[in-house]
Amino acid sequence: MDLDQVRVIPEEGWQDGPPHELFKQMRGTCPVHWSDGIPAYPSEAGYWSVTRAEDVEAVSRDWETYSSASGITVVSDAVIPVELISAMFIGMDPPKHDRLKNLFQRGFTPKRIGEHEEKIRAITVDVLDRLDGRERCDLVGEVAQPVVSRVIGSFMGIPPEDDEPWATLLNSLVGFGDPDLNPNGTETIMENQVPLIFDRCRVLIEERRIKPTDDLTSLLVHAEIDGNGLEEHEIVMGFFLLMAAGNDSTKATYCSAMRALMEHPDQRHLLLEEPELIPSAVEESLRMFPAFSHFRRTATKDTELNGMKIRKGDKVVMWYPSSNRDEETYEDPDRFDVTRNPDHQAFGGGGRHFCLGSALARLELRILIEETLKRFPATALDGTPAYAVSPFANQLKSLPVRLHG
Ligand code: HEM
Repeated sequence: MDLDQVRVIPEEGWQDGPPHELFKQMRGTCPVHWSDGIPAYPSEAGYWSVTRAEDVEAVSRDWETYSSASGITVVSDAVIPVELISAMFIGMDPPKHDRLKNLFQRGFTPKRIGEHEEKIRAITVDVLDRLDGRERCDLVGEVAQPVVSRVIGSFMGIPPEDDEPWATLLNSLVGFGDPDLNPNGTETIMENQVPLIFDRCRVLIEERRIKPTDDLTSLLVHAEIDGNGLEEHEIVMGFFLLMAAGNDSTKATYCSAMRALMEHPDQRHLLLEEPELIPSAVEESLRMFPAFSHFRRTATKDTELNGMKIRKGDKVVMWYPSSNRDEETYEDPDRFDVTRNPDHQAFGGGGRHFCLGSALARLELRILIEETLKRFPATALDGTPAYAVSPFANQLKSLPVRLHG
């Protein structure tokens, strides 16, 4: 294949998840690769694809050369306006980013996360209980979605009846490109639903201001550095970011992990016999099935990356499904091995934007896998799972299973 002519994200290449064969060729012959446009979004400029782990780390760590402030996905304005992204700290550079992340990090200390273990387990068991007497189910819609929605909802202080509207909104924003997840395009969502959601956030913030509780919203409302707290719009945007990041991501990796365990019964038996391997299986699943296929930076000056000349203003896209299978880092990278316990870049390549929720995601994934295997040790695939056709959300949108083999 002539890689010069290849664009990385035509939709037909992503019907069954990321194009691993293409990424393998790119890592081997053209690890920093230029695509000259995005067919589905004709107004969007071209982009560099970074496919090797070492280069992903170099880009992630050098925020002065590779900025997050001009958009964070390969598609810029065509999906979510850049102003909205840049109002969230994931779309900021230091020093603005430092201040906000510092304050938000207080909600994600290991102690605070650890305190949620019992609650997350109770939520998971409750959702699995609803399947009693059933022969079949869809693990995406009937297990993963209600668990992750309630976990992040309870973390933030959202009432359970709001879980579903939040999930619908966030699935369609994060799953841009997929006609089932995003049937009306993002424009109508931005106009109609987002303002309503922001209003709900403001009400919650006001309630916590008057009457503090122990949820994250309350912590953020009352957090201060050197006597300075967060502005209301900073909390609203941070809240939105946490909901978006906490909804689709854990769901995606749990479902991909369960699919891999059903497709590799030897690996599932290992976990059933030695449940203490589950944390290693979580890391292996994050490596092989990172929930987000990419995040993006924009070059702030002319520079060079692995021999390629990048110009100021160019988009630079880090493909984690590729860097996590880099043969320079992993032996037999396409093999799913629950004993591997690997390092990986599913939570980013290091540096300032490293995932804030990684400890929460790891805890949720461990509990979800533990409880599902305990309750349904012989789960088997029941039909063909469907992938979201999206260059961003690396997730299944359905995973039909027989619960008892
Ligand atoms: C399997 C689960 C998850 C994966 C794979 C994941 C992945 C990522 C990645 C790759 C980034 C880096 C973005 C960049 O470099 O530009 C990131 C950032 C972030 N994640 Fe996660 N995430 C997960 C779960 C969560 C959860 C549960 C939360 C919160 C509840 C969360 C909150 C965030 C936030 C706030 C950021 C922005 C950090 C910053 O800009 O400093 N993530 N995540």
